[in-house]
Amino acid sequence: MKAIVLAGGKGTRLRPITNTIAKQLLPVANKPILFYVLDQIRETGISEICMIISPETGANIKESVGDGSRWGVQITYVLQPEPLGLAHAVSTAREFLADSPFLMFLGDNLIQGGVRDFVREFNANRPDALILLKEVPDPRLFGVAELNDRGEVLHLVEKPQEPKTNLALVGIYLFTPDIHRAIAQIKPSKRGELEITDAIQKLLDAGKRVRSHILGGWWLDTGKKDDMLEANRVVLDTMLRRDIQGRVDSRSQVVGRVHIGEGSRVEGSTIRGPVSIAEGCEIRNSHIGPFTSVGAGTVIEDSSVEHSVILEQGRIQGIERLEDSLIGKGVELRKADSRFKTVKLFVGCDSRLEL
Ligand code: G1P
Repeated sequence: MKAIVLAGGKGTRLRPITNTIAKQLLPVANKPILFYVLDQIRETGISEICMIISPETGANIKESVGDGSRWGVQITYVLQPEPLGLAHAVSTAREFLADSPFLMFLGDNLIQGGVRDFVREFNANRPDALILLKEVPDPRLFGVAELNDRGEVLHLVEKPQEPKTNLALVGIYLFTPDIHRAIAQIKPSKRGELEITDAIQKLLDAGKRVRSHILGGWWLDTGKKDDMLEANRVVLDTMLRRDIQGRVDSRSQVVGRVHIGEGSRVEGSTIRGPVSIAEGCEIRNSHIGPFTSVGAGTVIEDSSVEHSVILEQGRIQGIERLEDSLIGKGVELRKADSRFKTVKLFVGCDSRLEL
């Protein structure tokens, strides 16, 4: 069995953060989401992985992930020259896949408990495809499945205006080589892409066996700002353990599940977990509240931060209450020395500020 990971796309919905970093490399609890994906694939025992990259962010992904030796797997890179859809991405990996059954994983998706059991079930029963579903509040944003009373998949539609169910297709699929024939039969959708959802529908039309599982645990799809914050919250809440490697002075209080990386210093501050602080940070006279991740080399002084993700090398000074925020790499936020409530900004394209 092989695996393909889709790590292309432009990350438009996460600009400007994704102007300098691929969306699959955005950190959740200070670790790129794509690294969790590779952890979950490694757990299945699959060791041949093809990473499908785009011209925009491919180099960034290659540099961070490397040849896979860090996970004990072998990674082959394949370029998808244009964003022509998930099914098109599968066909770019055709040579790598040959006639092997495979796991397909979108590099910005993650599910609780990993995929080991699904791979095992697929190998034991060998349906033609196995899809994962999750109940969601707004199914119009996803591929949507209709099932019969026995839970068998009847019909799949990509982003329907009027969804028949609230069961969204999760971005993790298991296929036999039959999917390649199905992909060859589909046409581009309204958004001009070859949809994997349409290819799976072709399998159904041909009477093939498509099994489904409705997930009970969490599913993270980190395409937008609030999804990122939610992913950070869920991962900190369910996966973080207390681990203090940096120095905490006697005037500080560190409560609950808090990770403080090597070389970080906490002085005169309160850290209330779950919180992840990476390496080389300085936290002074501040409060860092639950569900916050602070990237490496960041300095936070005289500030209070909660439910936020701060990327590397940030500098936050004198900010009374920073909440629900996603702050890019190297950003400086500082209270101005002014008697008036002046706002002074130096922000890039596509930034969003709520003042
Ligand atoms: C893609 C799929 C969709 C699926 C979703 C899961 O959507 O087309 O069927 O539900 O991933 O993340 P996209 O992210 O391309 O909008």
